[in-house]
Amino acid sequence: MTTNRTFTMLKPDAVEKGHIGAILDKISASGFKIVALKLTQMTTADAKEFYAIHSERPFYGELVEYMTRGPIVAAVLEKDNAVEDFRTLIGATNPADAAEGTIRKLYAASIGENAVHGSDSDENAAIESAFHFAGREMF
Ligand code: RTP
Ligand code: MG
Repeated sequence: MTTNRTFTMLKPDAVEKGHIGAILDKISASGFKIVALKLTQMTTADAKEFYAIHSERPFYGELVEYMTRGPIVAAVLEKDNAVEDFRTLIGATNPADAAEGTIRKLYAASIGENAVHGSDSDENAAIESAFHFAGREMF
C-alpha cells in the first residue's frame, strides 16, 4: 500500500519546552499539509500499544514513561512521498547523529527524548493515524 500521508507526534519534551509552534512551522514550510491535529495525552495502555513493537527492548519501560508524562501533539501530514520525506525532515533517532537543520538536530535532547515521532511505513502511518484520530477528524 502506498499513500501520500504520514503520522507524527510532537513528543512530551517538545511540548514541555514550548516548541509546538516552531516545529509545526517547520513542517508546513517543508511542504507538508496538516490534515489532522490535536493536543492529547497518551495513557500507559496507549503508549504500550503504540510502541508494542519495542516491548522486548531494554528502553521500553522508559519509553512508555516518557511518552505518557505530558501532552503530545498528534498530527496527520500529507505530501508526495510523505513517509520517507518526513523521516528525512526529522533526522536520525539519536540527535547526535541527526543532520544539520533536521527537527531532531534542532529540538531533541537525546536518543530517548527526541522531540518527534515519524511513521516508518505507509502501513504504519495508516495504523497510527487511526489510533489517534476518528475518520471525521481527518481531512
Ligand atoms: P519514532 O518511532 O518515535 O519515530 O522513532 P524512531 O523510529 O526514530 O526510533 P525507534 O527505533 O522506533 O524507537 C522509538 C523511540 O524509542 C526511544 N528510544 N530510546 N534509549 C534508547 O536507546 C532508545 N532507543 C529508542 C526513542 O524515543 C525513539 O524515538
Ligand atoms: Mg520508529
